[in-house]
Amino acid sequence: MRSEMSDRAREVLEGNWQDGFTIPCKGLYPFQWNWDSGFIALGWGHVNMERAKQELRSLLKGQWSNGFLPHIVFHNEAETYFPGPGVWDVSRSANAPATRTSGITQPPVLGYVLEQLYEISGESITDFVREIFPALYRWHHYFYTHRDPHQEGLVYICHNWEAGTDNTPVWDAIWAGLDSPEYQLNRRDTQHVDASNRPSNREYQHYIHLVELFKSWNYDDVQIADKSPFLIQDPLFNALLMRSNEGLIRLGQLLGKEAEVAQLQRWHALSKTHFHEKLYCPNQKGYVYYDLRGNRRLNALSSSSFVPLLAGVPPTAAADEIVSAHLDSGTFSGVSGDFYLCPSFDPSSPFFDPKRYWRGPVWINLNWLIYHGLRRYGFTEVADKLKSDTLDLLEECGFYEYFDPRRNLEPGHFRGYGGNHFSWSAALYLDFINRQTL
Ligand code: SER
Repeated sequence: MRSEMSDRAREVLEGNWQDGFTIPCKGLYPFQWNWDSGFIALGWGHVNMERAKQELRSLLKGQWSNGFLPHIVFHNEAETYFPGPGVWDVSRSANAPATRTSGITQPPVLGYVLEQLYEISGESITDFVREIFPALYRWHHYFYTHRDPHQEGLVYICHNWEAGTDNTPVWDAIWAGLDSPEYQLNRRDTQHVDASNRPSNREYQHYIHLVELFKSWNYDDVQIADKSPFLIQDPLFNALLMRSNEGLIRLGQLLGKEAEVAQLQRWHALSKTHFHEKLYCPNQKGYVYYDLRGNRRLNALSSSSFVPLLAGVPPTAAADEIVSAHLDSGTFSGVSGDFYLCPSFDPSSPFFDPKRYWRGPVWINLNWLIYHGLRRYGFTEVADKLKSDTLDLLEECGFYEYFDPRRNLEPGHFRGYGGNHFSWSAALYLDFINRQTL
């Protein structure tokens, strides 16, 4: 079974390869996406390291002159996705490159991925690490110098697409305060997959409203920080930044980059000082989101609430309570194991929806991040459970984009949702089964 699934995972990556980079999925996502490419590069690392290198090189062609790394790079033409390069119109920014890109970013997984590729290949990729280290360092430099207005080491995101968790119920409180225009949208996603599994049209109007605001400010970070109605410190985003800091610090030491390592260590220490204190909610026993515009915590738990384990953020006592409250016969697993780990939103909430994108379904990349977080703290049993749930879902359904977490479904109900032959689901399957000892 495992070797047949491995072959199929490779076929998914091969099928989505586009002469230099890998699309997440045909039709639905026909360009190169930032954090997708990080996970995909790791999958390629087990199959064909040259492809892993090309994947990252291609993504970096979209880097802006200020270090910003956009969430989509439009290398190719495709009519099957909205919003395309014309909507983004990033040429309004003096920092934008010649390559067409979007104007927002995505969770910074690349420093961590590069370190993991080095784990897989060792010194044979030192030249490649030396080649791309400066670009990744510049991206972290951008975050700490442009996205941290209070110098807390906690960077903000200004769009829900930057979170990766596009339509999590956490954002409902932000949308409730917005009076976005009722744009006529030319959505393409709902032509590829069931609309009831995707964000609503009203949510898309808010997403596009934010893009229109950023365009009106020519993507100027100062204006965005001053005026964007969406300005959030997100626990997933900041935990990945910290874990990627650690990766870059380790690789920078190997390369002898003393000044960069010292700077990364300073930023990292600043993040570590404020993260737990500001984003941990002892009542809910998990990390939550801070709304910088509204000066309030958004008190809801999602799978992002557990990713700080990956970066070593929680003190041991907090890590213990997170795991026992939510993951080990807790809210997210269900006390009788009612759910596959890990639902993307709190199943005890009235806003939990097991079928709709980031409002409940299991996502493979979040599982992979939480798995490594659990391992870091020595929660081996729960980590193994999470891994076996992940492999069961993929082996039962195939490489879908997201999965219904309810263990007991009505007979005949298929639990794989969204795009099929989805690249990061395949890539991370390869990583899970090729690194048994992790
Ligand atoms: N995830 C977004 C979408 O669904 C893009 O980043 O289109």
